[in-house]
Amino acid sequence: MKCEICVIQKYSKHNIMQKLLDKVKQIFDEEQFVHEPKELYEPIEYTLRLGGKRIRPLMLLAAGQMFGADIEQMRYAAIGIETFHNFTLLHDDLMDKSPLRRGKPTVYCKWDENTAILSGDTMYALAWRYFLRQPHPKLQEILNCFNETGIQVCEGQQYDMNFEHCENVSIADYLMMIRLKTAVLLAGALKIGALYANATAEDTQNLYEFGIHLGLAFQLQDDLLDSYGDVSVFGKQTGQDIRDNKKTYLILKALELANDDQKEVLRQLFSSTPSDSESKVARVLELYAQIGIRQPVEEAIQKEFELAQRHLEAIRVSKAQKRPLEELMEVLFNRKK
Ligand code: IPE
Ligand code: IPE
Ligand code: MG
Ligand code: MG
Ligand code: MG
Repeated sequence: MKCEICVIQKYSKHNIMQKLLDKVKQIFDEEQFVHEPKELYEPIEYTLRLGGKRIRPLMLLAAGQMFGADIEQMRYAAIGIETFHNFTLLHDDLMDKSPLRRGKPTVYCKWDENTAILSGDTMYALAWRYFLRQPHPKLQEILNCFNETGIQVCEGQQYDMNFEHCENVSIADYLMMIRLKTAVLLAGALKIGALYANATAEDTQNLYEFGIHLGLAFQLQDDLLDSYGDVSVFGKQTGQDIRDNKKTYLILKALELANDDQKEVLRQLFSSTPSDSESKVARVLELYAQIGIRQPVEEAIQKEFELAQRHLEAIRVSKAQKRPLEELMEVLFNRKK
């Protein structure tokens, strides 16, 4: 079975990245995900075939290629990093009670909670198997990076849940949390690519920081799209962060900018889980509009993109070699999904 066309691909007018995306698509099309027992593997196949943007394998390959590694040498690391990402999604959707992903029912809704847990666990182990499949002199360092990243993502996910019940989360706390749950995986994918290519420590560090800032921008955008995205494009149910009392940049900044009355209402709304969640979402969006929350969020996103760009500029390879990552950044800057 073939993968759905990657969503970036349909929108990309960027040639070099297009080529890499074709390669990522081919790598996944050539892989077989269904084995016995089917009840375990079918949800894995379902998730991995739905595609998504595939930015993590793309970043891993682009990073390696930028420093001269051969794509084939990183084939299974690319599948491994995406399999890990998809594992986090199976568990995340269960934790966040999200019904929709990539425009389709989430695994715990289509099957059940136990399936999301066990197929998810298996995907984490499968990711390791993929990484171990290709020998490399730096494999231990690569696996160490992968493992530390995995632990950090779980730490971030725990903070994300802790903050649902916490009333005094600061913007610094939020940035620490999204760095862990989201940014380190983008940065880790890039670092792994650099390790395959034996890049210098300084270049690898700049690449990692590029990934961190891109990842922070990416999660800020995700939070914005959760409130303002078009469901048919975004592929996820909107308003879910509000229903879950997630402490996103939107609510934290809104509390900072609100007058006393607005603050009081927002605090009440974010400490309740009413059965009529639709009117809660509508009320919060109304207050967000009054406060004018979109602009400061967009400014924060812009700032992270600029910081990312600076780190990319500092890497000592030619402009042409940086082009795929630059193109990726341009596409992500305008993303609607
Ligand atoms: C979703 O990641 C989880 C976040 C970090 C926001 P993506 O937006 O990359 O999801 P897919 O893989 O493209 O569906
Ligand atoms: C994503 O956070 C973090 C991980 C999946 C590790 P979200 O909960 O915001 O991601 P989406 O919006 O469900 O994709
Ligand atoms: Mg979620
Ligand atoms: Mg979540
Ligand atoms: Mg989200």
